[in-house]
Amino acid sequence: MSEEAAFVQITYDELARLGQSDLCCSPAEIYREDELAALPEEVLRLSSGCGHPVDGAAISEGETVVDIGSGAGADCFLAARRTGPGGRVVGVDPSPRMRALAERHRDEADLPWVSFAAGDAAALPLPDGSADVVISNCVLTLASDAGAAWREIARVLRPGGRFVVSDVIGGDPDAPVASGSVAKARCETGLSWPEYRAVLRECGLRSLRILRVGPAAFRDGFRARSVTVAGNRSPGGVASIVLHDPAHAASAGALAGEVESACGRLGLRYDGHVQSRDSTWGRQLLELFEGDGDLVLVLDAAVALTARSAALTGLGPDIERAVREAGGA
Ligand SMILES: C[S@@+](CC[C@H](N)C(=O)[O-])C[C@H]1O[C@@H](n2cnc3c(N)ncnc32)[C@H](O)[C@@H]1O
Repeated sequence: MSEEAAFVQITYDELARLGQSDLCCSPAEIYREDELAALPEEVLRLSSGCGHPVDGAAISEGETVVDIGSGAGADCFLAARRTGPGGRVVGVDPSPRMRALAERHRDEADLPWVSFAAGDAAALPLPDGSADVVISNCVLTLASDAGAAWREIARVLRPGGRFVVSDVIGGDPDAPVASGSVAKARCETGLSWPEYRAVLRECGLRSLRILRVGPAAFRDGFRARSVTVAGNRSPGGVASIVLHDPAHAASAGALAGEVESACGRLGLRYDGHVQSRDSTWGRQLLELFEGDGDLVLVLDAAVALTARSAALTGLGPDIERAVREAGGA
């Protein structure tokens, strides 16, 4: 471990021992009233986030969520309310005292589907493709190698899985440039947004959306700039629509917008085609995926979804769920 990484670890271990953080934002500036009321006081005193990644992650029941740099566990506990006991929440943090404290509160709140693992953002103790959602709150700026940390996010996400990360960014021309181990441990340093975006794209992360950019007002008066960014691990898939019955072209055309936005959320690309079965290309695809439906949504020639004509117009809202169930994303 580098000297800087050791310094960062000791800093957060010491904050956990003191039971109070003076870094990053006060939770009152981040969480809603009902969320504040649901979190233990000690967890709130140590909460040191700069955004609300759980809010933007649209976590559903049964999903597996990974929180990188989970600290005292505030975001893990909020995520656990959304996954329910059928899901799983894994907080990863290098500080043993932070983990012990978070585990104590997990037990007191009786959330056995939440676990805390020792680990570093650049070497997550998780298998490939094991997470539906990765969140992180004011942590990645602490990593010694931002590229390695983001490659790990891409690795542990399942294809099409999503992330929402709140982090401190640099490059503000009006702010003094901070450097050194103390500034690093205090989350005062960060990549500029163009550098940040380039790192994400290099890791195969797509559909990048900035959910929020704003000031992060530290409890001790320091002001940083934070960004909350969301995106998907791309499965590299391409979706097309093929019609069995040309009479349904208008319905399928009306569906194209919904297919496109569902694909965007899943990290797929919709190629814009509504092909008739009479076209050479449509025939070839239908030979691969002959079914008794009237519409075939083909994902990268690997997965086909069929829908009967009666269901054509009702398919839109279900596309995302159907694609997930079919294993396409
Ligand atoms: C600013 S706190 C944020 C904690 C928590 N996410 C929250 O919102 O309250 C940073 C946390 O990241 C952890 N951390 C520090 N370096 C890390 C690294 N390289 N990888 C993962 N976590 C790290 C610290 O131990 C600490 O718990």
